[in-house]
Amino acid sequence: CSSSEFTSVISGARMASQRQNDSSAGYQPLFKSFATDAIHVGSEPEQWNSRAVVPPISLSTTFKQHGPGKHAGFDYSRCGNPTRSCLERAVAALDGAQYCLALSSGTAATLTITHLLKTGDGILCMNDVYGGTNEYFSKIAAEFGLDVSFADLTKLELLKAALKANTKMLWIETPTNPTLKVVDIKGCADIVHEHNKDIIVVVDNTFMSPYFQRPLALGADICMYSATKYMNGHSDVLMGLISLNRDDIYERLKFLQSAIGTVPSPFDCYMCHRGLKTLHLRMKQHFKNAMAAAQFLEADPRVDRVIFPGLPSHPQHELTKRQCTGCPGMISFYIKGKLEHASTFLSSLKLFTLADSLGGVESLAEHPVSMTHVSVPENEKKELGISDTLIRLSVGLEDEENIIADLDQALAAAVSISKHIIFLHSLT
Ligand SMILES: Cc1ncc(COP(=O)(O)O)c(C=O)c1O
Repeated sequence: CSSSEFTSVISGARMASQRQNDSSAGYQPLFKSFATDAIHVGSEPEQWNSRAVVPPISLSTTFKQHGPGKHAGFDYSRCGNPTRSCLERAVAALDGAQYCLALSSGTAATLTITHLLKTGDGILCMNDVYGGTNEYFSKIAAEFGLDVSFADLTKLELLKAALKANTKMLWIETPTNPTLKVVDIKGCADIVHEHNKDIIVVVDNTFMSPYFQRPLALGADICMYSATKYMNGHSDVLMGLISLNRDDIYERLKFLQSAIGTVPSPFDCYMCHRGLKTLHLRMKQHFKNAMAAAQFLEADPRVDRVIFPGLPSHPQHELTKRQCTGCPGMISFYIKGKLEHASTFLSSLKLFTLADSLGGVESLAEHPVSMTHVSVPENEKKELGISDTLIRLSVGLEDEENIIADLDQALAAAVSISKHIIFLHSLT
């Protein structure tokens, strides 16, 4: 065959073998121009007289007006800030949204969004969500007169049954924290909007990031993030983000944010914008490393069950492939044994750091029952499977072999306590 045919046969074979090993096979295609938008939108040098390639950190809290009430886009930093607006434009582009608001934390985003509701309005929330979200809705919003209820939104028939005449907001988190259930965003949005087109569908997209999932394109009205996690990605910024397309909701949220004061600092906006520029590279590698770790854990006899939406054993693996372009670095698993095995595993980790939070470059591990979800009532923890042996991993960007070696040695340490217990029993 000719040299060009030969090259195409070789590259065809190479592509086929890459595809076989490629963890992203079978998912939705990647969003077009994602990396280009992440790097350039909001960072255009032409917006500054100095032609700065990196948006400057604008620390000024106030801005000169050319006449009373006449300003050049900014008047007071709580209402708007140039560094914040650069970040907001970048995030809107990545979410395929018209608008974005950056806030002081993910929780501040939750609070601001909830202020769209009035006393007596109903909010229906996925039953497995971040512990702080559960706590805010059930212990604070409910006391302010919101009718808060929870349902397992992975079952669309339960969603239908849980909708009430006063339901005004549906709160979805997917994948859920910590048991990584995947909710059908389009399925939920269609049901809810058929019931009442004015119900606001909110998706907490913290775990997926816009690299893997775009909730607005699936029918959600609001997409929100704890940008403290993957969006910033370096565990050094506390931040919230809200993306949306609806003019009316945007205007109200912008008013609420400035009235409540849930604004981030310009420095944090700069940091998060910088982190965003490598989101595509980070998410790709998180997926690859997490897939390797999940496969290792699933094959290990010291582990009872692994929950990772990228594994065919995950109950909503097919839905994940239909809805997402891939999976982030979050894995939950049940270690064999009891509380002491989970504790020994966690305190024996050397590369993984035992700490709250997730989505940074470094691998973290935590114990939901005693850390992130300690505030969830006991009966709910039991119902959701947040038990003593559940461990949540945020797989970072270290070398795959080091990640697996660390999990392996910590599992060995956990098993060794069983031997110790058997030995002690044999002495009695
Ligand atoms: C899924 C999810 N949503 C919201 C939050 C709250 O975000 P923040 O800690 O930035 O206030 C968290 C925090 O862990 C989270 O994991």
